[in-house]
Amino acid sequence: MKLSGFTLCSLLAVSAVSASVLHLVPGNDDAHEHLVKRHGFVRRQAAQSGPTASNEADFAKIKDPKQQCAVYGVPEITQMQDQGVIPTGGEPATIQQKDAEAQKIWKDIQDSGIIPNDVQVKKQQGSEPHMGIDSSSYNAQEDPDCWWSASTCKTPKHKNPGMMEDLYTCPEPDTWGLTFDDGPNCSHNAFYDFLAENKLRATLFYIGTNVLNHPYQAQRGIADGHDICVHTWSHRYMTTFESDQVFAELYYTARLIKQVMGVTPTCWRPPYGDVDDRVRAIAAGLGLRTILWEEDTNDWQIQPSGAKPTSVIDQNYQSIIGKAGSESPIVLTHEIVSATMKEFMKMYPKVKEAYKNVVPLTACQNITQPYPEDQLKYPNFKDFTGGNIAPSGLPDGQSMKVDPNAKFEPVALDQQAKNGYGYGDPKSGSGGGGDSSSSSSSGGSGSDSEEGSSAAAALSTSFASTAALFVAGAVAIAVI
Ligand SMILES: *[C@@H]1O[C@H](CO)[C@@H](O)[C@H](O)[C@H]1NC(C)=O
Ligand SMILES: *[C@@H]1O[C@H](CO)[C@@H](O)[C@H](O)[C@H]1NC(C)=O
Ligand SMILES: [Zn+2]
Repeated sequence: MKLSGFTLCSLLAVSAVSASVLHLVPGNDDAHEHLVKRHGFVRRQAAQSGPTASNEADFAKIKDPKQQCAVYGVPEITQMQDQGVIPTGGEPATIQQKDAEAQKIWKDIQDSGIIPNDVQVKKQQGSEPHMGIDSSSYNAQEDPDCWWSASTCKTPKHKNPGMMEDLYTCPEPDTWGLTFDDGPNCSHNAFYDFLAENKLRATLFYIGTNVLNHPYQAQRGIADGHDICVHTWSHRYMTTFESDQVFAELYYTARLIKQVMGVTPTCWRPPYGDVDDRVRAIAAGLGLRTILWEEDTNDWQIQPSGAKPTSVIDQNYQSIIGKAGSESPIVLTHEIVSATMKEFMKMYPKVKEAYKNVVPLTACQNITQPYPEDQLKYPNFKDFTGGNIAPSGLPDGQSMKVDPNAKFEPVALDQQAKNGYGYGDPKSGSGGGGDSSSSSSSGGSGSDSEEGSSAAAALSTSFASTAALFVAGAVAIAVI
């Protein structure tokens, strides 16, 4: 489907998501609505009053959430769509026929030999494509693919050169790794104001279609000094895609971030935590380190878009707060809706009281140059916790432009160290959550997953393995 205008695109991006997507966790009926929302399928209002601002800085001043969420067009994005070099709407990304550059980069990754050839594409589950997984026929015990959804594995089983362990903790004590997924949310100004006022910087995992729909909001993420990572184009279960689509989901998100925000990301988080060695390898070939989490607030379940009362999410936060002193987790939280943002703002004073350091993953991993763009420098752990939280060389929101011709030159993870930048730089990265003893010991780390708890439980829903269901369910409950 070829769409010409930005507004048209936004309106048509509303996909026909029908009822009953997942049969993952019995009693988890809120999952569907939640997923619909988190995939950028939210039905948008027709543009009410046209553009309300024409640059990031002015847009950031808009207080009214409705106005922030009104549809606006940015001509440079329309231009990219007209050129046919960017996927349209909320559908899963594919390599665009006219996009010779994407095809070349994809061929180079394949030729590099990093992608293991013995990892199967995972089976889907549910009526909506790529919106659920079925791991009932997978050997989760041996877990040859290091498939997180089946086993919470984070240390690749395939040792092809260039593969790296996933990150999920911060190496320094008393530290909370601050991350927010599923942005940029259209009405996030109050939340980003709060982060700024409280001298907080976070790592933000942006969805490609949200960057497409909300480019000024995306620009605010970088202009405010946060750290930007990829959260895929359409937020599907990545292990269910053929390899070229895995590539497209990552590539087009990373490239759009470069075009809209001016930086080349070197990190990504798989939606639902759904990653295996094949997907991990393709990401590594594209220069993206896989980031998971050790603790999950499950904030996306919050009412009204989710089914859980606020008190339950408060409890989730409390239990992580209670682990200060014994853990330095990377924590999963969301900017997906205003309720999750409000929840963080409400709980933050308690987080701060318990954890000495609340830091973005750049500081957590002591990374001072997360992107190849070398005018941008981020404070290391010591500087950040010493109060020097602001990166240098940030773009100015008044003059920031979307650049359809921005050159996107991803460098494989294992090549980044040589250049002294990125999440692939082992001197800063490998001290992280990567050591295999901790990743295999406490199956706990990941099983309290985001939507991932449903993902993990998916392996259990086959009628053939009622016992497995029980066990998996019990583990998840015990850990949370
Ligand atoms: C952002 O939050 C608002 C308010 O909760 C919600 O209506 C909207 O769907 C969210 N998503 C995006 C992509 O802006
Ligand atoms: C961070 O890196 C600096 C060098 O840039 C080094 O001196 C310091 O020890 C590192 N700190 C941690 C916590 O790894
Ligand atoms: Zn997500």
